[in-house]
Amino acid sequence: MEFWEKTIGFFWGGESLALLVMVLFVWAMLFHFRRDERASLVNTVGFFFVCLFGQFIAGLLHALDLARAAAVTHEVFVIGAGVAVIRLWGQLVFRVVLPAVKLTPPRITEDIFVIIAYIAWFMVRLRYAGLDLGSILATSAMITAVVAFAMQDTLGNILGGLALQLDNSVEVGDWIKVDDISGRVVDIRWRSTLVETRNWETVVFPNSQLMKNKFMVLGRRTDQPVQWRRWVWFNVGLDIAPTRVVSVVEDSILQTEIANVAKNPAPNCILMDMDNKGYARYALRYWLTDLTPDDPTDAMLRWHIMTALQRAGIKLALEEKSIHITKENEKYEEVVHHREVLLRIKTLRRVELFSQLTEVELRELAERLRYSPFAKGNIIARQGDVRSHWLYVIINGDAEVFVDLSNGKRRTVRTLGRGDFFGEMGLLTGAPRSASVIAKTDVECYRIDKDVVEELLHNRPSIAEEVSHILVTRRAELDTALQNLDATGAHPDLSQQRYEILETIKRFFSLGN
Ligand code: CMP
Repeated sequence: MEFWEKTIGFFWGGESLALLVMVLFVWAMLFHFRRDERASLVNTVGFFFVCLFGQFIAGLLHALDLARAAAVTHEVFVIGAGVAVIRLWGQLVFRVVLPAVKLTPPRITEDIFVIIAYIAWFMVRLRYAGLDLGSILATSAMITAVVAFAMQDTLGNILGGLALQLDNSVEVGDWIKVDDISGRVVDIRWRSTLVETRNWETVVFPNSQLMKNKFMVLGRRTDQPVQWRRWVWFNVGLDIAPTRVVSVVEDSILQTEIANVAKNPAPNCILMDMDNKGYARYALRYWLTDLTPDDPTDAMLRWHIMTALQRAGIKLALEEKSIHITKENEKYEEVVHHREVLLRIKTLRRVELFSQLTEVELRELAERLRYSPFAKGNIIARQGDVRSHWLYVIINGDAEVFVDLSNGKRRTVRTLGRGDFFGEMGLLTGAPRSASVIAKTDVECYRIDKDVVEELLHNRPSIAEEVSHILVTRRAELDTALQNLDATGAHPDLSQQRYEILETIKRFFSLGN
C-alpha cells in the first residue's frame, strides 16, 4: 500500500494537475474550432498522455527507491508534457483567438513564438532541476560554437522567413515565379515557403533561398489590383493591312465579356514583327485577373481571334513549309466547295423564310453566304446599332435575343437555335437594331448581305409577305419585353401592323406592288 502511495505521490507532483487542466481546456477549444486539424490535435494530446504515463513510471522508480532515475525520468516527461501544452496554446492563440479579433498573423509568427516558448520552458525546467543552461552556454565557447554552427542553416531560414514577411516582399496568396516554377504561395513557415503550382505540385523553397536569389511576384503592381499581362500570338499574311487586322480583333474582343480578362487595362492587339517568313506577327495582349487559369484563358482568346478573323474573311497565315504540304489542286477544291454548298442548301431548307425557294434559287443563295462563327459571349448584334445590316442564319449553337430596359436591366426576349434567323428587322426596314443578340454558346452562322437579300426580294416579292408575318409577331414580343405589356391586349390590330411593315419593306427595297 505504501508503495502505491509513494508512486502516486511522486507522479502527481505539483505541475501535473495544472498541465492536465490546461491541455484538456485548450484541446476542447481547438477541437471545437479547428475541425480541419483534428488529426494533428489528437497526435499532440496523445503525446501529452504518453508524457503523463512517463511521469507515472517516474513515480514507480521513486517507489522502488531509485531516486536519481526517478528524478531524471520525471523531468524529461514534464518537459515533454510542457511542449505539448505550448503547442496547443500556440494554436489556440494564433488560429482561434487572433483570427476572431480579425488578426491573421503569418504562420511563421506562430512558429517562432512556439519555438521561443519551447526554449524558455526547457531552460526553466533545467534551472528548476539545478542546471543553469544559460551560464553553461555562456561559459563554454565550444558548445556555443557547435550549436551556432549546427543552427546556421536553420537560423538563416528563420531570419529569411522573417525578413520576407517584414518587408512584404511576399505574402501568402501571392503568385511567384522562381526559375521555371510558378505557383501560389500557400504558407510561409519558419524554415520554408510552400508554393502550390498549377500542376498540383507543392514546391518547398527554403526561406534562405528566396532571400538570396531573385524571384518574381506575378501580377502585382503598386496600388493596382492583381492582374498579369499575357500575350497571345497569331500570324496573318502581309497582304492584309495591319490596321484592319487590329481593328477586327480588338472590336470583337472589347465587345465581349471574357472570364478572367481585365477590363482595365483593356486588351489590345499590336503588330509585333514582320519577318522574312512572309507574314506579319501579331500579339493580343491582355491582363489576366485570376492567375490560375492562364492557358485556358489564352485558349479562349485564341478562339475569339480565330472567329473574328474568319468572320472578316481573314485567314491565319501558315508557315511556308506547311503551305507546300497542304497545297490543294483545283479538282480537290471543287469537291470541297460542292460539299459545302450542299451543306448550306440543307441548312437553308430548314429556314422558314426560304421555304418557297426552288432548288436553283437555294443553290444561288448558298453560293453567296458568308460563313460567320462567333465565340460564346460575342455580341452579334447590338440594340440601336444603325450599321452592319446583315441577316444571320444559325447553323449551330444558341443565341439569345435581349433588350436593355430603361432601368438599366436587360430582359431576354427569346433564345434562337439551329435554323433560326435574326437581323431581318434592321435589314428589311432600315431601322436600327431592335434588340441585341449574344452568342450563348459558340455559334456558327451564315451571314447574308443586304444586296443578296435585295436581289432575292426582287425575284420573289412573296418573301416580303412571309417575313412581314414573322416581323409582326416578333415586334409584339419585343414590345411586351420592353413595356411589360400583354402582347395580345396591347396590339389589337396585327393586320394593320403587318400591312405597314410590308409597305416599309417595299419602300426600302423599291419593290413594285
Ligand atoms: P434586328 O432588329 O435587325 O436586330 C435584332 C434582332 O433580334 C432582330 O432584328 C430580330 O431578328 C431579333 N429579334 C427581335 N425580337 C425577336 C423576337 N421576339 N423573336 C426572335 N427574334 C427577335
